[in-house]
Amino acid sequence: MAFSQSSQSSPQSTPFRKRILTGDRPTGKLHLGHYVGSLANRVRLQDEYETYILIADVQALTDNFETPEMLRANIREVVLDYLAVGLDPQKCAFVIQSLVPEIADLTIFYLNLVSVARLQRNPTVKDEMHQKGYGDNVTAGFLCYPISQVADITAFGAHLVPVGEDQRPMIEQTQEIVDKFNRLYGEDGAEGVLVRPEGMYAEFGRLPGTDGAAKMSKSVGNVINLADDEKTITQKVMAMYTDPNRVTGREPGNVADNPVFTYHDAFNGDKARVAELKEMYARGGVDAEGKLLLGDVKIKRELAAALNAFLEPIRARRREYSLDEDFVWDVVRAGTLRGRARAGEVMESVRGAMKIDYFR
Ligand code: TRP
Repeated sequence: MAFSQSSQSSPQSTPFRKRILTGDRPTGKLHLGHYVGSLANRVRLQDEYETYILIADVQALTDNFETPEMLRANIREVVLDYLAVGLDPQKCAFVIQSLVPEIADLTIFYLNLVSVARLQRNPTVKDEMHQKGYGDNVTAGFLCYPISQVADITAFGAHLVPVGEDQRPMIEQTQEIVDKFNRLYGEDGAEGVLVRPEGMYAEFGRLPGTDGAAKMSKSVGNVINLADDEKTITQKVMAMYTDPNRVTGREPGNVADNPVFTYHDAFNGDKARVAELKEMYARGGVDAEGKLLLGDVKIKRELAAALNAFLEPIRARRREYSLDEDFVWDVVRAGTLRGRARAGEVMESVRGAMKIDYFR
């Protein structure tokens, strides 16, 4: 990358940096799926990009509108998780969505650029509607949340959106709206008013749930939280789904669709040991005399140990940051102010492009 980090001293000498916008719904603590899907990339890229991280409380309301009072505590949990994994509030602005009215303004404009049929085709929304049993009674707010997410991304002029695989349809929807907006309201031949973002997806792919389901999901209850303590980790790992066809433990085991091995791959630093475990498991975990050397219990114990080693420093930082009640809110207030300033600039150029900057 051409963007140097050398001079931080004065704003004038700060080179242009591309921007990241990504975010999470504040519905509780973040889990390993969030880490693999997006948090790891954010931590890695925070030095290189101007980073905005949206705490999407408005989006959280689209399927939790009966309990808005939950948001305050959940925002705190999410921010503690951010700090714990190593996101630096000097480098990343943590922004509360409902405090950036420009996002709501843009959402209303964008809703004219999408058909209801297109909204109904969004595969992630379809999955969620099915899971929640909404059917024809789906609210307009829920059906339209992807457009609000388009506003989230474009309000900050983001170039890059690090997200989990499940968010791919949202990025595609964003690109469609951006193209349509720029075509409709842009000057011929000029650079688009809205930045067309790219998604960045986890190198590792999607982390399965502890039950072997395709995705770790709080509403399904198959998650391991970043803040889980040592005992909870061990309990959850020991109860994990493995290969159901391995009845006595002597049958050749399936490594490929086995979440225990997927987690070993993602979190166990000892790659040689993981390779050894896989090889033994695929052979049935028995020696030449047929003696069982490697049962599920052993693989799970080693996974629990690896996860605890990975999570301990994260838990320690979380404990430290949670001691000061005000710290999280001070960080969020400062981040939200920075976010609003950026969104204000974008909003001004949007109004200009649409020729509704009446008092200019
Ligand atoms: N929909 C995302 C999720 O459920 C959260 C989110 C809201 C988001 N706004 C965003 C992600 C903007 C990326 C960019 O995890």
